[in-house]
Amino acid sequence: MTSELCIDAPQHIIHLLRKLHDLSAEQEAKLKGNATRFVSTDVLGPGAPNKDSNFDDLMRDKFIALDEDKCHFVYQLIRATGATNVIEAGTSFGVSTIYLALAVAENKKRLGDQSRPGVIATENEPEKATRARQHWKECGPVVEKEIDLREGNLLETLSKDVEDGVDLLLLDIWTPLALPTLKLIQPKLTPQAVVLSDNVTMAASGYQEFFEYIKAPNSGFRTLTLPYLGGFEMTIYDPKEQQS
Ligand SMILES: C[S@@+](CC[C@H](N)C(=O)[O-])C[C@H]1O[C@@H](n2cnc3c(N)ncnc32)[C@H](O)[C@@H]1O
Repeated sequence: MTSELCIDAPQHIIHLLRKLHDLSAEQEAKLKGNATRFVSTDVLGPGAPNKDSNFDDLMRDKFIALDEDKCHFVYQLIRATGATNVIEAGTSFGVSTIYLALAVAENKKRLGDQSRPGVIATENEPEKATRARQHWKECGPVVEKEIDLREGNLLETLSKDVEDGVDLLLLDIWTPLALPTLKLIQPKLTPQAVVLSDNVTMAASGYQEFFEYIKAPNSGFRTLTLPYLGGFEMTIYDPKEQQS
């Protein structure tokens, strides 16, 4: 085991993560030239239905992995909060999912918890799901056994068999799906659960309805934008702040 990069993981996983982040960054640079970031709102208007755009075609062979520094933050947050029940909306080739699985596995090990996988991952594109599974296999059982990958539209695959007590929801998904996904999972969130959303500043127009919802008076959420590239939102679910 090594703690290089703040991550407790065997060397082969650290090397794989480095390689995958590099490949993702190379692809993104080609997609957007010199711009800092390529986001779904570049192609999708706010609220545009995912299926009617060419965005999926363009993204089918792209990683668009969560940035490495954000992955490190999410890993540390999961370790610090002791989260054992995590959902990822948008898995792609499974890069961020590796961090989620590693962190949850450490928390479960500490608790002697051998139960069901602690990470529900979601991916619409069959080819991407296959690549993700290959990457997790390369990592080995510590990662593989911790992930329940739901293939298909997450608004369907997450509508059943999600147990109560979700500690953390990572929204790394096309912006029109952020709010519907939050609303779907909200009844399952544990008090003080964390919801993380990527590129909220860069893709602000796509997140408009999401923010109207979480910032509404008595929404049950508190939120702040962390100063990562593109903005990374950390939202806490605190139902005592919610009025019926
Ligand atoms: C930004 S990428 C996720 C990157 C990933 N978290 C990582 O760090 O490697 C978003 C992914 O969401 C997937 N996606 C888009 N719409 C979806 C839907 N309705 N259901 C499930 N997955 C979807 C896309 O195919 C894409 O791979």
